[in-house]
Amino acid sequence: MNMCKWIASRDGSPVDLSERLYMSSYDVIVRAAVKAKSEERKVMVSVFMESTKLATGFMMADLYPSVKLLPLITGARFKIRRLRRKVDEVLDGIIEQQRAAADDGDDDTKLEDFLDILLKYEKDGTLTTDNVKAVLLRPEYWNDPEEFIPERFEESTIDFNGSNLEYIPFGAGRRTCPGMLLGQANMELPLAMLLYHFDWEIPNGMKAEELDMTEGLGSTLHREHHLRLIPIVKRPLCARA
Ligand code: HEM
Repeated sequence: MNMCKWIASRDGSPVDLSERLYMSSYDVIVRAAVKAKSEERKVMVSVFMESTKLATGFMMADLYPSVKLLPLITGARFKIRRLRRKVDEVLDGIIEQQRAAADDGDDDTKLEDFLDILLKYEKDGTLTTDNVKAVLLRPEYWNDPEEFIPERFEESTIDFNGSNLEYIPFGAGRRTCPGMLLGQANMELPLAMLLYHFDWEIPNGMKAEELDMTEGLGSTLHREHHLRLIPIVKRPLCARA
């Protein structure tokens, strides 16, 4: 809702939609993960955004991992340590508050977040880690598997919840993604609001087919260049929202 309000305030001017969508998703995930105060949330979202840039950007040190001095010379190590310290400070504070609240049997903990669940696992000693599996793009199942063709799903009955093994964006089996529903809601709700409340124009008279759809490097799939669009308010947001 905050994202839509912000976009509505820019009615008729170009906005960096990618940036707003990143901010909004990170904020939802931080809210689900920890009961952070708004200042703490802001720090965490800014750290996530900065670390995504570092993790997905080009780093000379990644090309020559054996040259141990490179991360020092380029300042990469310093930047990563600074971010790590920042997020550690905030998270340590939140973990301590929630541990204390759980030990006191505080009623606030009735509304469990992700951290409460992890703290319970920590007590039971059953927390394990596993590698994320690669999702295979197999030409025997998909035409042009590397191409961005969302229309391929239009006439398809294929599901994404792990029952059709040729399409497993959330994995499958025992280690399937536990955040599937949250991830799905995090995409569908904002998208529905963006389409319901706004019409969208591409700046500089560009056509949709001319948009640069190049994918960026990194561990998640994202655009190489941010999507900039002009929002035109179609159905104003409710004044009370
Ligand atoms: C569209 C969004 C998302 C996608 C595409 C996605 C995808 C995946 C994939 C492919 C795996 C590996 C599954 C396997 O090993 O079989 C995974 C694991 C995992 N995901 Fe997600 N995920 C998403 C959102 C989330 C969210 C929002 C959360 C938590 C808030 C989350 C938490 C996890 C965790 C904890 C695991 C590890 C599970 C385990 O190893 O037992 N994911 N996810």
